[in-house]
Amino acid sequence: MSPIQRKPPNTASVAIPGDNGKLHAPSAARNVAAIVDAISAFVPDEGTALEIASGTGQHVVRYAEAFPNIVWQPTDIDTDRLKSIAIWTLDSDLSNIQKPELLNATSDSWSPTWLGQNLIILSNLLHLISEREAMNVITQSAKALASGGVSLIYGPFLRGADFASEGDQKFHESLQFKDSEIGYKSYQFVQNAQTDSGLIPLEPIPMPSSNLLLVARKP
Ligand SMILES: C[S@@+](CC[C@H](N)C(=O)[O-])C[C@H]1O[C@@H](n2cnc3c(N)ncnc32)[C@H](O)[C@@H]1O
Repeated sequence: MSPIQRKPPNTASVAIPGDNGKLHAPSAARNVAAIVDAISAFVPDEGTALEIASGTGQHVVRYAEAFPNIVWQPTDIDTDRLKSIAIWTLDSDLSNIQKPELLNATSDSWSPTWLGQNLIILSNLLHLISEREAMNVITQSAKALASGGVSLIYGPFLRGADFASEGDQKFHESLQFKDSEIGYKSYQFVQNAQTDSGLIPLEPIPMPSSNLLLVARKP
């Protein structure tokens, strides 16, 4: 099957050029402290972590700082974001961040390149892609995790058929207006896909602004 490369709407993936090539996403700056806090219960004591759809690089430098015994691998599909991640990494002076790599997470064949991960973390992508693409992200992540590894997925989700807020519903409608295949998924959709892929989902963790952190373990 040919790889899928969907360009998310610009309004859904804001990254503002800043100093010396760094991109800044206001949302990443806003949510990173709460994410670090919530994931601390699930990040392994040591090992490797793959970040999918890293974005600007603001998240991975904070993760690497907060969890220094983990070697963090940032990835993204967008070459401008990869350049930005490299600069955020360089400026951070942290030695536990690998060179950012190109990864199309919606392809159905990326896992063999990234086997043995103790942690795979993804934020704010699943609402920007189709259900089939989301299934690929989840299935490939499950394959890439080592036994005992953890999947962490942060973002906005439906609760069954219900939106968590009016703002969520408006955002979803604006996404579907641009591309009818994309939009919010329910957290149950994610958990069912994880279960079908051999993962064991835990209870969703409520996050600020109606977001959720979805945690699943590989036996
Ligand atoms: C809304 S941004 C989220 C960035 C970051 N994770 C965050 O939460 O701030 C979505 C990111 O997904 C990336 N992306 C879109 N499609 C992708 C794909 N198929 N594979 C990997 N990354 C993708 C975009 O380049 C962008 O960096």
